[in-house]
Amino acid sequence: MSQLKLSKEGWSNQTLFILAAVGSAVGLGNIWKFPYITGENGGGAFVLVYLACVLLIGIPVLLSEIALGRAGKANPVQAMANLAHENKASRLWFLLGLNGVLAGALILSFYTVIAGWGVAYFFESLLGTFNGIGKEAVGEHFSTMLASPMQLLFWHTVVSIITVYIVSKGVKSGLERAISFMMPGLLLILLVLLGYATTTGAFGQSFSFLFSPDFSKLSWQAVLTAMGHAFFTLSIGLGTMMVYGSYLSNKYSIVKAGVWIAFADTAVALLAGLIIFSIVFANGLEPGSGPGLLFQTLPIAFGQMTGGWFFGTLFFALVIMAALSSSISLIEPAVSWFDQNWGIKRKKAAWILGSLIWFIGIGTVLSFNEWSDVHFLGDRTFFDSVDFITANIMLPLGGLLMAVFVAWVVSPKDRAEYIDLNSRLMNWFVFDLKWIAPVAILTVFATNLVGADSVLLMILVSLAVYGVYVWNAMRKNG
Ligand code: TRP
Repeated sequence: MSQLKLSKEGWSNQTLFILAAVGSAVGLGNIWKFPYITGENGGGAFVLVYLACVLLIGIPVLLSEIALGRAGKANPVQAMANLAHENKASRLWFLLGLNGVLAGALILSFYTVIAGWGVAYFFESLLGTFNGIGKEAVGEHFSTMLASPMQLLFWHTVVSIITVYIVSKGVKSGLERAISFMMPGLLLILLVLLGYATTTGAFGQSFSFLFSPDFSKLSWQAVLTAMGHAFFTLSIGLGTMMVYGSYLSNKYSIVKAGVWIAFADTAVALLAGLIIFSIVFANGLEPGSGPGLLFQTLPIAFGQMTGGWFFGTLFFALVIMAALSSSISLIEPAVSWFDQNWGIKRKKAAWILGSLIWFIGIGTVLSFNEWSDVHFLGDRTFFDSVDFITANIMLPLGGLLMAVFVAWVVSPKDRAEYIDLNSRLMNWFVFDLKWIAPVAILTVFATNLVGADSVLLMILVSLAVYGVYVWNAMRKNG
């Protein structure tokens, strides 16, 4: 593990890196997950916490993660081993990479199932199923699809195969080509839909649902979900950005890339939310109806609007592409680990891992029908459990460790070399990574674990535990 293995592949230029990173960040998390969890958690206050997490935790961790990947020049497991070795830190840091590889596999296992719904809807839209459709029929249509394990399994398989196929082709020919044309298209169609949303008569209501916070609706569980989602939507905490950073040449700006990624990602989520809740309120639908929200709202809009067949088909095509540019980035850390550390060639690694992940995904397929009453973590279905462990636990934990590594282990000189911030911003950045992000993450964990009787107490406990850990580690290193 202490051998220094280096990545040989690379991005053609910085724009392609940004496109790929944005392609990874923008995905089902923005279009499908953000609206439905916002609906389930009461709107405004949840959105505010999510935005605060993106700003105070997400962006600093994003910059750190890209920098770690570029400096460690390898897959997450090896990159962390390399960096720990260089900085004379504990060898156990490789576990951070392993946590990511595992989380990536778990997330992908349900990601392909949901993306599969998108593929099904693409074909249905193409065949005109949604022309003039009403809200009852849309709801029924969705339930019928969920009730059929065979149908879900089929589309899950299709998406899995396409994902593995792209990844098996490698960075230049596979990833870049798939990504460079979909982002502008997605933005364009969201603007068309936004135009439609303003004609529904519920646009104002949708706006205030998203942007006027009512903190009485906010639970600590919701805060954890919002924080977890900040990680999920930015593709951080796992090693995706590390791997993509490892393919990035030293002459490019990490800060510029990071700002673009965060901006594009947040914009798409908020646009999607505005559109979907306009349709929800205009049709008297339930904002908290769960993972089906996207699929039970947009077809109504396409059914009503002029050119709906065209826009609907195009929209689902773009959802598929947004999902694929994210799904390939979920398996990439594991594939590059197999390739670089275990000598299993990219192509073979992609198929082996893909098959394994596909198999785990069957649990998610069944959680919407045969296993809908089978509970795993608490009262969560298989899908909800995997989603919870990954987004709400593994990603924030990974992000916490990345922040700690960049803030405490990396030397100030190296840090200045890795991340192109001026000295004032750098001070802020380091303070945030040292204290704000870790203590915030620990506090949210603690309140969810122990209950939230006294948040102040939880902050103090987290601060104390963290402070002792840092002090101890500092003392050992002299
Ligand atoms: N960010 C993607 C989305 O919002 C999903 C994703 C891709 C991801 N790569 C990731 C999430 C790495 C966490 C970590 O759909």
